[in-house]
Amino acid sequence: MNDILSHIEDRVLTLTFNRVAKKNALTVAMYGFLADQLEHAAADSAARVVVIQGDVTVFTAGNDIADFQKAAASGQTGALEDRPVGRFLEQIATFPKPLVAAVCGPAVGVGATMLLHCDLVYAGDNAAFSFPFVNLGVIPEAGSTLLAPQLFGYHRAAEILLTGEPFMAEAALEVGFVNRVVPPTECNEITAGQARKLAAKPLTSLIETKRLLKAGQSDALLARIRDEGVVFNRLLQGPASREAFAAFMEKRKPDFSAC
Ligand code: COA
Repeated sequence: MNDILSHIEDRVLTLTFNRVAKKNALTVAMYGFLADQLEHAAADSAARVVVIQGDVTVFTAGNDIADFQKAAASGQTGALEDRPVGRFLEQIATFPKPLVAAVCGPAVGVGATMLLHCDLVYAGDNAAFSFPFVNLGVIPEAGSTLLAPQLFGYHRAAEILLTGEPFMAEAALEVGFVNRVVPPTECNEITAGQARKLAAKPLTSLIETKRLLKAGQSDALLARIRDEGVVFNRLLQGPASREAFAAFMEKRKPDFSAC
């Protein structure tokens, strides 16, 4: 698909967000494509490692806000795992092979939470991470209410998730959210080099090591992703998110005084 480029070489599948005019915001169709690509790569012996990247200016601005508005207007029902975004979240949370991300510029919302499921994350020094869910009248998703306290410690996770304030690559390195900070123009190439190194290693050892690193976690993680999904969907129909999305579209500050 044009909004995400897919390329396989040296047993590395690279998925590149390619909707830069909209800051690589993720549409329903893009989630569906990502889910299909991950599902296929999990079983495909030609793919040992998957890289997810944007370009030098932006990773992704997260869920497309016009799609959020459409979902809210439709009164979206049904289980998260039956929708493209839910399929993507479950694929990324359970993907058995190494997942590597190259992040430059903004990584917002699901653009940040998906990184909690990546095994290695390389960041350009212009990377800016944010989890603005509360500021949008919804709640953090993708299992981030479980994984963020584990990774950052409770108080840092609470600050990141409750305030939604962005933090830059160096701060992300300090809290262990990224592996290395590099010049943005070199980020995708450095990441590709690391991915090729992994892809040259024995696949079973990679898969078993990742399985054990995450052992015991997947049932609780999938349950949390679904629990978050139920609350997220309910809040998506509520007044606070309606105001937040309208404010974004109208390029003004939201007014939550009545929410
Ligand atoms: N959904 C839909 N469109 C988006 C978008 C999103 N998540 N993020 C950016 N865009 C669009 C803007 O509406 C704008 O479109 P236009 O040129 O037709 O007006 C275009 O992408 C450029 O965005 P802009 O805000 O002008 O870029 P910026 O460099 O000033 O800021 C961001 C970049 C990512 C910081 C800012 O766009 C942003 O905060 N986006 C929303 C992020 C968000 O809340 N995502 C949901 C997470 S749950």
